[in-house]
Amino acid sequence: MGPELGLENKSPGIAMATDNRDRICDRPLLITGASGFLGWHLTRLASPYWSVQGTYHQHPVDQVGVTMTCLDLSDLDRVQAWLAALNPGAVIHTAALSQPNVCEHQPQQSYAINVKATCTLAEFCGQRSIPFVFTSTEQVFDGEAAPYSEGSTPRPINTYGQHKLEAEQRIQTLHPHPIICRLPLLYGPATPRAGSFLQGFFQTLAAGQPLSVFVDEFRSPAYVEDVALGLLLALREGVDLLHLGGPERISRYHFGLRIAEIFNVSPALLVPTEQRHSTMAARRPADLSTDNQRALALGYQPRDVAAGLRAVRDWSERTGPNPTLVY
Ligand SMILES: NC(=O)c1ccc[n+]([C@@H]2O[C@H](COP(=O)([O-])OP(=O)(O)OC[C@H]3O[C@@H](n4cnc5c(N)ncnc54)[C@H](OP(=O)(O)O)[C@@H]3O)[C@@H](O)[C@H]2O)c1
Repeated sequence: MGPELGLENKSPGIAMATDNRDRICDRPLLITGASGFLGWHLTRLASPYWSVQGTYHQHPVDQVGVTMTCLDLSDLDRVQAWLAALNPGAVIHTAALSQPNVCEHQPQQSYAINVKATCTLAEFCGQRSIPFVFTSTEQVFDGEAAPYSEGSTPRPINTYGQHKLEAEQRIQTLHPHPIICRLPLLYGPATPRAGSFLQGFFQTLAAGQPLSVFVDEFRSPAYVEDVALGLLLALREGVDLLHLGGPERISRYHFGLRIAEIFNVSPALLVPTEQRHSTMAARRPADLSTDNQRALALGYQPRDVAAGLRAVRDWSERTGPNPTLVY
């Protein structure tokens, strides 16, 4: 997405730089979690338009044209002091404890990052009319009434979903216009320090080992760069709540079949398995497919799974496989 993305900022509180179309705002765009899977892709895609400041915690990372700072978001005093010194023009908050099983085992850590740190960032922004984008999840739903639109009633069934929903609710009391984007299952090329579920699939299949994949778990997976652009779109439009799901409802098993086809792997390695008979730390909603009509009407353009997987393959052919993460 180039200038047609129209990153002229319509969100409240951002002064548009009229003398420089490439640098939309004279203050930086802060992207927390820039070492994470989504954050890394987002910093790269935002950097032509913004002066981008990224943060990492345990995994230092570089990105051309992006300033990176180590920040522990659980140290709320330091966070506030650092934010005041930075004086960002907008914030997109992607840092999180993002794995549901980890959140189930470490609820206090999950609460500290997914709720408290989110509230601190939102409050700082709210008090200064700085646009604040929060990356929530479709796991705020129970999976029993898909497809889910922005009007659907959340009912989380695991700690991760509960904490994300609490953060959604609390930031609405701390910021006058928070921008909440609920994200689907993400996939895409591995970054220097992070990957998606796809990389786990590849590692197993590349080793010629059988891969158990659920036939009864449905998602609307989205290619990570499309979602990153969706977040920038949400920031531009200043929406209150937006679902950024992919265009297809697909089971994990059928996702695996697409991988087998595009990456020339034997489909016989895929072992159809039933999620309802599997034991995991965090309960997993059965069907989190989404209704994205609102985002599509704004110009969101998520590609389908086959196109997304081809993009991963092309990326790898261009850059060579990540030395630590396959594809
Ligand atoms: N991936 C998905 O499929 C998916 C689906 C729905 C929603 N989401 C949401 O999208 C966002 C991005 O997800 P992701 O998959 O990109 O996450 P990720 O790869 O797990 O990255 C998490 C990021 O958070 C940072 N972080 C964790 N604890 C921190 C702390 N105490 N202080 C500062 N930073 C900390 C990590 O920094 P270090 O690595 O440097 O420690 C990393 O940059 C999250 O809000 C997630 O809930 C993701």
